[in-house]
Amino acid sequence: MIVGGVAQGLHLTVQALAGRLPQGRAAHDLDWFVDRIANPAPRPGRVRLAVEDPTSLRQLPLLRAAGADLVAVPVDEEGVDIGALAASGARVVLLTPAHQYPTGVVLAPCRRAELIEWAVATGATILEDDYDAEFRFDRDPVGCLQGLAPDRVILVGSVSKSLAPGLRLGWVAAPAEVAESVRQVRGELDLGSPVIEQHALADLIRTGDYDRQLRRMRREYRARRDALVRALAEHLPEITVHGVSAGLHLFAELPWNWDEFSAVETAQSCGLAVEPVTPMRHAQGPPAMVVGFARLPPHRADGVIRTLAEQLPR
Ligand SMILES: Cc1ncc(COP(=O)(O)O)c(C=O)c1O
Repeated sequence: MIVGGVAQGLHLTVQALAGRLPQGRAAHDLDWFVDRIANPAPRPGRVRLAVEDPTSLRQLPLLRAAGADLVAVPVDEEGVDIGALAASGARVVLLTPAHQYPTGVVLAPCRRAELIEWAVATGATILEDDYDAEFRFDRDPVGCLQGLAPDRVILVGSVSKSLAPGLRLGWVAAPAEVAESVRQVRGELDLGSPVIEQHALADLIRTGDYDRQLRRMRREYRARRDALVRALAEHLPEITVHGVSAGLHLFAELPWNWDEFSAVETAQSCGLAVEPVTPMRHAQGPPAMVVGFARLPPHRADGVIRTLAEQLPR
């Protein structure tokens, strides 16, 4: 189903999983419509949903609003902790397996197998946020979880990273029953996504232009990533960089005695796109920041990082 980005895809899917379904007949049935005016929507349902710790802060309010009671499950260097997930009592888990946001960790093959085993054994649902799959720089693309267990995994993606976030164009690929529920929930919200953009995207894909654009941008973003990583290694060797093999951001771990928020403020004043990691964490962790490089051309990286190194309060 085509939706307004991962954000809307998650919102609709969680509503569907939480049981916020329109009752009765299909939404285009006139009797149903008249009945719904007389009898307001049923009370919203709730679902226990596990999110990775740390996680993308922006999505939490929309998940809660859709009916999720959130529980945080730690992420280590192999990805989400499956034992902790099983112990959390969650019926749904939201994951970024190909490039964990924000740490950049790839979910290890053994964890993938354990995760699917857990979902099959408990009847749980995995929400796979495949937000930056198009940009892999140093290794082969990581396969989707959805391909391993299409009846347990709902895949959500968008063109926000590959084209532009302002397009608000994304998709939900779900098992037929869930897809039908998502469609019904969508029917209660609005009358669908703009079709002109969808035709334009379909045309881009059909003609091969989308593939060409991805190849071009992969080269460009790789050059941006390389320049940033080089500059950090040269001017700020105290910072440990993680998660650089994919995506449009890197995870910069700061020394323990640095103040994360003043480092972020200084980096922003130097023109870098950075965010503090502490607000994304449930459990405590080392000071760190997410550094986006999509808008930092290679020729500017060295100068910006040199200035940052001079100005950072340490
Ligand atoms: C973790 C994560 N998921 C998804 C997205 C994309 O969201 P949307 O498709 O709603 O723009 C982003 C940001 O671009 C993100 O950081």
